[in-house]
Amino acid sequence: MLICVMGLQRTLNYFQRILSLRSTSVVPSSMFGEASQSRSHLFTTPIFYVNAGPHLGHVYSAVQADVQYRYATLCGEDARLSTGTDEHGMKVQQTAVALGADLHTLCSSVSHQFRSVFDSLDISYTDFVRTSESHHAQAVKRFWLTLEEKGYIYKGIYQGWYCTSDEAFLSEEQTAEGRDPNGNQIRVSVESGHQVHWMSEENYMFRLSSLRPLLLRWLQSDPIRPTKFLRVVHHWLEDDLPDLSVSRHRSRLSWGIPVPSDPSHVIYVWLDALVNYLTAAGYPDPHLAPWGPSTHILGKDILRFHAIYWPAFLLAAGLPPPRTLFVHSHWTCKGVKMSKSLQNVVDPIECMRRYTRDGLRYYLLRNGAPERDCDFNHHAVHALLNAELADALGGLLNRCTAHAINPMQHFPKYYPNSIPLSAHGQLNDLLRSLQELPSEVEQRVKTFHVNKALEAIYARVRQTNAFFQSQAPWKLCGGIKEESEWGDSVLYITLEALRLYATLLQPAVPGLSKALLERLGVPPVHRTLKGGSFLAAAWGENCCFQGHPLGPDCGVLFPRLEKKSNKEPIIIGKSG
Ligand code: MSP
Repeated sequence: MLICVMGLQRTLNYFQRILSLRSTSVVPSSMFGEASQSRSHLFTTPIFYVNAGPHLGHVYSAVQADVQYRYATLCGEDARLSTGTDEHGMKVQQTAVALGADLHTLCSSVSHQFRSVFDSLDISYTDFVRTSESHHAQAVKRFWLTLEEKGYIYKGIYQGWYCTSDEAFLSEEQTAEGRDPNGNQIRVSVESGHQVHWMSEENYMFRLSSLRPLLLRWLQSDPIRPTKFLRVVHHWLEDDLPDLSVSRHRSRLSWGIPVPSDPSHVIYVWLDALVNYLTAAGYPDPHLAPWGPSTHILGKDILRFHAIYWPAFLLAAGLPPPRTLFVHSHWTCKGVKMSKSLQNVVDPIECMRRYTRDGLRYYLLRNGAPERDCDFNHHAVHALLNAELADALGGLLNRCTAHAINPMQHFPKYYPNSIPLSAHGQLNDLLRSLQELPSEVEQRVKTFHVNKALEAIYARVRQTNAFFQSQAPWKLCGGIKEESEWGDSVLYITLEALRLYATLLQPAVPGLSKALLERLGVPPVHRTLKGGSFLAAAWGENCCFQGHPLGPDCGVLFPRLEKKSNKEPIIIGKSG
């Protein structure tokens, strides 16, 4: 239920704007696409609420974003990665009151926890935005004034439901009857299950309803992956799209950024939070002003904010909407969504201690599927890491770098005429599938299926192990020239395959890949995908790696996990 009371001047602004949009045939088409080619591609994580510390679900959003950013830079793209903390709003204000904590101290302390977990996990962010910082407040105020100047903000009366846990305004249909833990009847959000409260107050409204045509046009550029979430957004846009309340009266909510022209109101926390992406891009500095292509990585619970509100805000302000939204599903614990309020969250720090940072990253990326929720399970982590990183990848490295088989400790020469007839089929299959791997990985990463990219790499690692095993180069070192040349060729192919895997694995497991590339003696200039050529000698081309020395032996690539680390789940209790 929404009653809007408009001021006359603002109404006039609105109609003027509508007329000018009509006469210029809506918004310039450049807004939907390639206007900002020369600017850095901004990859983002959501910014994290500071009402509690980081858990595994948060870390998942950050790791997925890190992979996208690292992959883009590996391909030579000019990119940035922003993350940060969402510090304003009712939820944080209420947490501080409940804990008896000073708001600034609470925000700084929890923000620091997020930053430190991301550092430990090797999240290579280039910007960390805290919404309580003054340069962000300037960006938000400038953005608000732009929306106001363009006639998109007016004062009205909002009556409806508010969900503090989600910081979301909900229509009647988005709520349902529910029960609290004591069995009392309450009203809850259909989507999240969190309790909602009725509110009725005069505040500032954003003309969201007028942006539906532009939102639909933006959706035509296919900006949301996986496509199942694009369908969800289309479905939402079939329903009413009411104007959005974008402020709260200061008497109810004081912890936020004041409305520039009316300090008795505080800007709605989601408007404040979404603008963090602009802050990271340098807005509103006219010299930086680099709002170019953006890819936002987010969980499905915050899809509406990113797929409706955010593009609508940007379009209203005359800025390009996001290029892509990559949406992931949730991690569950025994089938229930991991969440601070349910006290069933898994501690990422303890996971890193047990499995190493690369082990945790690999598990999350390999087992997490964007389309469906995944249950976190320590037995599964254990089995996966031992099979894929310790045995298959580590085993392959050991085999072709062992002194007994590679006494010269180098990439041997490849002899095209040494291939025995019996090996032709297997060799051709392997070479073909290695040749296809980089483009397959690219296609998987760029459609937000990192799990499938890793699956494809693992399949090739197994295939290479099988090739090595059946060609048995350790039996080919005896005095026969053709045999020892074939032995060298098998080693060359295996080492080149490993160089390819290490290069492609860098975005997912940067530490482990680095160790692998160093053991292979690959200099940093040869660690990118830009112009990188693999197995060139097998394709009859010159390969600078023939005769290239291996790097120093620094021990086991990924130590097998002991049974004892496969214990009870690590749940953070109340404080988490
Ligand atoms: N502050 C807002 C985001 C504002 S972005 C402009 C917010 N914060 S959050 O801390 O609640 O969530 C941050 C991210 O963590 C979201 O992408 C959310 O989906 C993700 N996860 C939180 N719990 C999760 C799981 N159990 N599983 C996977 N990710 C989930 O929302």
